Order: sequence, then structure tokens, then C-alpha cells
Amino acid sequence: MMQNLHVAIIMDGNGRWALHRGLPRTAGHVEGAKTVNTVVEASARAGVRTLTLYAFSADNWARPSAEVAALMRLLRRYLTTETRRCIEQSIRINIIGRRDRLSASLVRAIEHSERLTAACSRMHLRIAVDYSAQHSILQAARRAGSCAQLSTEVFHGLLAEVDHSSPCGPVDLLIRTGGEQRLSDFLLWECAYAELYFTARPWPEFGAEEFQAALVEFARRQRRFGRLADAAAGQAS
Ligand code: IPE
Ligand code: IPE
Ligand code: MG
Repeated sequence: MMQNLHVAIIMDGNGRWALHRGLPRTAGHVEGAKTVNTVVEASARAGVRTLTLYAFSADNWARPSAEVAALMRLLRRYLTTETRRCIEQSIRINIIGRRDRLSASLVRAIEHSERLTAACSRMHLRIAVDYSAQHSILQAARRAGSCAQLSTEVFHGLLAEVDHSSPCGPVDLLIRTGGEQRLSDFLLWECAYAELYFTARPWPEFGAEEFQAALVEFARRQRRFGRLADAAAGQAS
């Protein structure tokens, strides 16, 4: 039943986690990067089909330049150290979001990881960097132009194209760590019927057990997609 899930995670609370310990915010991001490894592995083990992680929003450019640089360095390090492991585990890496504001060397690293893992089919790992759902939706709408035949599915495909991804279905479960209960411009279109799961636990303290708890909670939810309970049970996969 968990097999075809698209899980998305807003990895929040790194900075506050660090400050509570008297550490610089960047120490929280370093610790958070370790959680990424744990959760990617837990997702693959659980049979999740697509995992989309929010790593850097388009609005995060407004943070101090040293913090932005640290986040970009961590992403680069993630790609260089984890691509091999992803190949071994047949995990396809895909960075979604804008690329025109990233450094040329980071874009090269992204393209390299994507190329090396292109044929991996166990899980699709999408990491959102310089991502804004509103920006993506606007871009896709511009691409659609005045297309009279535009359907939800076609638009979904256009969105994936704009994001440098491939169509991967709507989000089933959206998790946000760190205590805030908002979307912060993440996957606004794709989350139309997503089940929302909020936890106060900061991202550096999130782990395989918490991830599993979110999946258990998701399995308990009754999804109706606007129908009545009995009819929807037959529709949901
Ligand atoms: C999430 O943690 C990581 C990014 C947004 C890049 P934050 O850095 O937002 O941590 P808090 O929310 O300030 O604690
Ligand atoms: C959302 O977190 C972005 C990421 C987790 C990458 P923020 O910390 O930037 O969101 P706000 O500012 O609290 O809404
Ligand atoms: Mg935050």
C-alpha cells in the first residue's frame, strides 16, 4: 500500500535547533544534511516511489550570504558524496527548481549526478533548490500559452518540465518538521489532496522512526477526494 507514494518534506528547524545549543545556524544545516541520508534510506526501505525534499527556497536567497554559501556548499557535498550510494541503491537524483541563479559549477555537479543516476528506478529523489511553487506555476502557465486543450495532466507535465523533473504524480503525504504549519511556497499545485503531517521536532532530530510514524499516521487517514467515504475507498490506490 505504501508502494506508490509520493512523500514531500519541508526540512525545517535547522537554525533554531543550532541556536538552542549555542551553535551557529550553519551547524544546524550540517546536522540536517545527516538527517537527509537517514530519511532517504528509510524512504527507499519503505518502498516510497518519489521523495521530494525542500532544501532551499527561492526566498532563502534573502538570508545572510554566509548562510546561503554554507547551504550551497552542503548541497554540492551531498551530490559528490551521495551519488555513488544512490547508484548502489538505485535511487534517481533530480534537483528541481531554477538553475539560472546557481553557480555554474553547482549546475555541472547537478547535471553529473542526474546523468549518473538517470536509469535508477527504485526511488525518485527530488531535491528542491531555488524553488518557488508560484514561480514554477507561472512558468508552466506561460509555456501553456493559450492552449485550449490544456488538461490537469498536461499542466502537470509542463510543471515537471519547468522544474527539470519528470511527471511523478501528486504528493500523497507532506511532512513539515520544525513546528511551523505552513507551505512556504512548496509544491502548491502538487499538494492539492496531500495529507499534511506537522511535527514540532526540528529536522536535525528527525529520524527513521519519526518517518515511519508519519507513514503509519498517513495509513490511518481516510482520503476521500471529495467523494463519500465508501466510494472513495475504491478510487484511492
Ligand atoms: C531549514 O531550516 C533549512 C532551510 C530553510 C534552508 P531553517 O534554516 O529554516 O531553520 P529555522 O526555521 O530557522 O529553525
Ligand atoms: C522553508 O523553510 C524552506 C525550506 C525548508 C528549504 P523556511 O524556514 O524558509 O520557511 P519560513 O520562512 O519559515 O516560511
Ligand atoms: Mg525555517
